Amino acid sequence: MFRRAIQGRRQIGISAAIAVINPGPGDTILVGGAGGGVGVFAVQLARLAGARVIGTGSATSADALRALGAEPVVYGDGLVDRVRELAPAGVTAAMDLHGTDTAQAARKLGVPDERITTIAAQIDGIRPANGANAALGAIEEIAGLVAAGQLRVPIAANFPVEEIRAAVELQAERHVQGKVVINL
Ligand SMILES: NC(=O)c1ccc[n+]([C@@H]2O[C@H](COP(=O)([O-])OP(=O)(O)OC[C@H]3O[C@@H](n4cnc5c(N)ncnc54)[C@H](OP(=O)(O)O)[C@@H]3O)[C@@H](O)[C@H]2O)c1
Repeated sequence: MFRRAIQGRRQIGISAAIAVINPGPGDTILVGGAGGGVGVFAVQLARLAGARVIGTGSATSADALRALGAEPVVYGDGLVDRVRELAPAGVTAAMDLHGTDTAQAARKLGVPDERITTIAAQIDGIRPANGANAALGAIEEIAGLVAAGQLRVPIAANFPVEEIRAAVELQAERHVQGKVVINL
């Protein structure tokens, strides 16, 4: 039986997002929507690069975010203040994987536009990331990390292909933690 993540191409998009901000040791990176199918890879890839990661999610996602190596922070009103409290020395880069709130918060925290990226929306002056601007070989690189046990693939739910509608509906709620898998 073949298993394929519903967000297959997103693995490429996240590689492009990582390339925009180019994380490394000494970085503190704010990741918006850190527990989603894209976020679970974003957090781990930034951690593998040696960065500290602060990830936004609801309160119920906090443990899952910690398990990935992120420090959880609740999204919504007051985000800037909560991040300042967690990282008084400042945030150096940001990936907004949900909309524009995290990118706007990053600007307020003093992150320069060239170290902010979005994947789900566009903001003037900020470079968006998507599968189309991913580097050649990105998918192989990510697959290699998974095969080597360096990148975990949290599975939120499994569906047989006959129930693909339910899978898409679950995904569309935008509160999934990890990947939604369709079994073919
Ligand atoms: N441009 C591209 O190439 C590309 C590629 C792939 C994906 N995308 C887009 O990237 C986005 C992310 O996709 P995804 O599948 O990872 O996740 P998603 O389903 O869009 O979002 C799920 C995550 O977002 C969090 N979340 C919910 N409301 C939030 C809010 N107001 N602020 C911040 N986070 C919030 C949820 O946390 P809680 O469950 O804790 O609430 C959950 O972890 C989507 O818009 C997708 O279409 C773009």
